[in-house]
Amino acid sequence: MSDTFLIAPSMLSSDFANLAGELEKLKSAQADWIHWDVMDGHFVPNLTFGAPVIKKARKSSPLFFDVHLMIEQPEKYITDFIKAGSDSITIHVESTKKAEECFKEMEESGVKKGISLRPKTDLKDIKPFLSKVDLVLVMTVEPGFGGQSFMNSQIDKIRELKNIREKNNYNYQIEVDGGVSEVTAPLVKEADVLVAGSFIFKSDDYKTAIERLKACRK
Ligand code: DX5
Ligand code: ZN
Repeated sequence: MSDTFLIAPSMLSSDFANLAGELEKLKSAQADWIHWDVMDGHFVPNLTFGAPVIKKARKSSPLFFDVHLMIEQPEKYITDFIKAGSDSITIHVESTKKAEECFKEMEESGVKKGISLRPKTDLKDIKPFLSKVDLVLVMTVEPGFGGQSFMNSQIDKIRELKNIREKNNYNYQIEVDGGVSEVTAPLVKEADVLVAGSFIFKSDDYKTAIERLKACRK
């Protein structure tokens, strides 16, 4: 296990009017992944961007595109997001009855499979998928908006997921999304990847903000 976190800046908090410039800055700032918060205004009360935006952005960045689908019936859109150049696609267990269908298509395309759950959803709801996925995204805020406060109540899920992985020899990475900062990151050292929006984009230097978050795992 590495002694630093992988950092996935959330583009939700970026300057949408200058995505190519932001992606260039994040690459220079040594971001590990780029986290795309896709929202449909139904699964969550907010509407952001779809596959066409990610397809365009793909031309401006070599980084790992970590796509978080906060949308109803993701099975209808998986092909579009795969073709747009996603490296991982995370669906919400609450959003579909066809998760297996989504994972099969991702598997066939070599896209990493992720599953996520809202704060009020119990870990037991994603247990059937843990042997199959590459990524588990734990929401530490109610999905929909950046800049919310971190929910300490979700820390136990992260610890439990690490225990389950070790006990069963599973391979998923554990990712945390919502309210991540220098204060909250040390609370989730069992995680592998941190999504951060406000903490990075509100800082005056992306590289320093990313370095400081990375180091919180030590
Ligand atoms: C919620 C979003 C946010 C975002 C991170 O749906 O997924 O969690 O990525 O935003 P911050 O880091 O500002 O909480
Ligand atoms: Zn997200």
